[in-house]
Amino acid sequence: MKKLLILLFCVLSVTTFAQNRDAEMDLFVNKLMKKITLDEKIGQLNLPVTGEITTGQAKNSDIATKIREGKVGGVFNLKGVEKIKEIQRLAVQESRLKIPLIFGMDVVHGYETVFPIPLGLSCSWDMNAIEQSAHIAAIEASADGICWTFSPMVDVCRDARWGRIAEGSGEDPFLGGEIAKAMIKGYQGKNLSQKNNIMACVKHFALYGAPDAGRDYNTVDMSHQRMFNEYMRPYQAAVEAGAGSVMASFNEVDGVPATANKWLMTDVLRNQWKFNGFVVTDFTGISEMIQHGIGDLQTVSARALKAGIDMDMVSEGFLSTLKKSLMEGKVTEAQINLACKRILEAKYKLGLFSDPYKYCDITRPAKEIYTTEHRDIARKTASESFVLLKNEHNLLPIKKQGTIAVVGPLANSKANMPGTWSVAVDLKMPATLIEGLQTIAGDKAQIVYAKGSNLAGDSAYEARATAFSRSLNRDERSDEELLKEALQTAQNADVIVAALGESSEMSGESSSRTNINIPDVQQHLLKELLKTGKPVVLVLFTGRPLVLTWENEHVPAILNVWFGGSEAAYAIGDVLFGNVNPSGKLTTSFPQNVGQIPIHYNYKNTGRPLEEGKWFEKFRSNYLDVSNDPLYPFGYGLSYTQFEYSNVTLSSPVIDGKGELTASVKVTNKGKIDGYEVVQLYIRDLVGSVTRPVKELKGFDKVFIKSGESQTVKFRITPDLLKFYNYDLKYVWEPGDFDVMIGGNSRDVKSARFTLK
Ligand code: BGC
Repeated sequence: MKKLLILLFCVLSVTTFAQNRDAEMDLFVNKLMKKITLDEKIGQLNLPVTGEITTGQAKNSDIATKIREGKVGGVFNLKGVEKIKEIQRLAVQESRLKIPLIFGMDVVHGYETVFPIPLGLSCSWDMNAIEQSAHIAAIEASADGICWTFSPMVDVCRDARWGRIAEGSGEDPFLGGEIAKAMIKGYQGKNLSQKNNIMACVKHFALYGAPDAGRDYNTVDMSHQRMFNEYMRPYQAAVEAGAGSVMASFNEVDGVPATANKWLMTDVLRNQWKFNGFVVTDFTGISEMIQHGIGDLQTVSARALKAGIDMDMVSEGFLSTLKKSLMEGKVTEAQINLACKRILEAKYKLGLFSDPYKYCDITRPAKEIYTTEHRDIARKTASESFVLLKNEHNLLPIKKQGTIAVVGPLANSKANMPGTWSVAVDLKMPATLIEGLQTIAGDKAQIVYAKGSNLAGDSAYEARATAFSRSLNRDERSDEELLKEALQTAQNADVIVAALGESSEMSGESSSRTNINIPDVQQHLLKELLKTGKPVVLVLFTGRPLVLTWENEHVPAILNVWFGGSEAAYAIGDVLFGNVNPSGKLTTSFPQNVGQIPIHYNYKNTGRPLEEGKWFEKFRSNYLDVSNDPLYPFGYGLSYTQFEYSNVTLSSPVIDGKGELTASVKVTNKGKIDGYEVVQLYIRDLVGSVTRPVKELKGFDKVFIKSGESQTVKFRITPDLLKFYNYDLKYVWEPGDFDVMIGGNSRDVKSARFTLK
């Protein structure tokens, strides 16, 4: 009883504290709103990009003039605390109302200490590590003047052609939701009052990960059923976790661009999900609606405001047209006030009104950015993100002995290591793969190197695929000369490490591909290396699932390393040499070929499903030329040890609407090495009022099991976990039978059945 009272007291105190804080904020913001002119209100809604400007330019630029005139609410992608401090000084000393600016940046997977690309990070299935990566990003970014990050990117994606699959957490809404929560916690902490917490921005709302044909920015069209059951969860989870801001996506939703979609931005986001932060457009999201074909700049700007957009990134549509629209009765002052208040509230929550220089302590960068501690954590996290796709005859780990030939166009690059959207990285810092391997092998093994091929045969393609200073220094020698050198280098080696795949800019924004193989000349190189008869380990760099059907058949060992961040080279060495036992599991299905896309594990049965284990049957839902199966399923990944699963036991075969049950499985490490295993829980709702997927991820646990030992892993199943959006979009559970499936990937599972009454 006493404990209960104490708990009640704590809850009440926290609630009262929050209420007081909100009341204080209201008071402050309302007072400011009385002083602010219409022009200044509209100015708060304006977010220009500063990019790379020097300190001198910062003072004299066109943006500086606008800041003095109160026509800017924040700026983004300006790097360097001193520059930021100078710009902030303009706002708080030279503008009439002295309203501080917010400084945003795409701090997507780390700042100068770079973590794996988000798709890689998700394959760690380690929520603590993911939260910590966001927290470290927040420490470093805030030390350098940034208070707002355009992250997490939580777009569910089932289409490997889309380059931005690299920036999200893969194909599953449940896992995506858990990761979204971890990221928000990592960036924002308990609240934003600390100087090393920054405001998150969930993007891209909504459905940006489902463009037609995987082509970036393309049209999205899906049923509300699919939307709510399969795509919305991560955004909503981020909102529930308290994300301070949301970014509108470029695509249309239900025929209206997200940026002008009132149903999406107001009915769903604010009314249904109770989001109380502010919404920013994506880069020129407002002016792009002219091209979408829904009106001129004035019309689309008014539509965006009325839909619920608060801040205009780069278009200056709000700045240049809202006043006119107000005069003409096309928007109301109340609508402008609301947007302005939300921006001011964000600044208040960030503590910028009490101290506009809160994030401008110029002594912090030297102490807090790219520290040994941060780099060590990034290295460990990177090693957790790698997925061992194949390991015939335990070729891996390789011994630290003899001669190791490292061959491939990605082996000797620093700039290629961090991965797409590593805006703040110092490209001189990451070690190349060769340097990383040599450091870890020490003097025990000799590393020899040859490039072997360029990234792609077509130089124009390579140029497009190595933008943003990520050049791979194209070699002017002929393909034959490069190959010859590589084969000579490999001749005396004991083992060949082939560093192949995509360049880091082959995924990410505006990097869609229709052929997702390893590029031509690299594949040829790989074939020739295999012909030497020496053991070949493929270290695969990629920002998306690739088609690896040939490689899976012919290459004995494949370690998928994504783009592991600034410390990737050492982390790859840790895993290749066996200092770390790989534990990553795919969060995205790898197709057998491009024609299978979109492919995902949580598909529906259809009226004509193919019998399990079968390859083809006439008049069933299948293909003539390949089976329906992916090459590597969702959740898949090998270890240097082997795990065995017992049958699933349920604490009860029946539960009612208020009950719960436990599903357990005993997992045994049968191998000689200790290791982590990601134990996955899937559930199938056998009969529904609407059709339900054949399985859905509903839980997971990453457990460490010593060699020869076992661990019982338990999952709690409640009716809440069984809810879905029915035809009327009500979030409900329905009575009936459910299959519980537990395993080390989505394909190889053990199952048991229960009934929900
Ligand atoms: C991207 C966003 C990014 C923004 C600002 C856009 O092109 O779609 O993800 O946050 O640019 O850099």
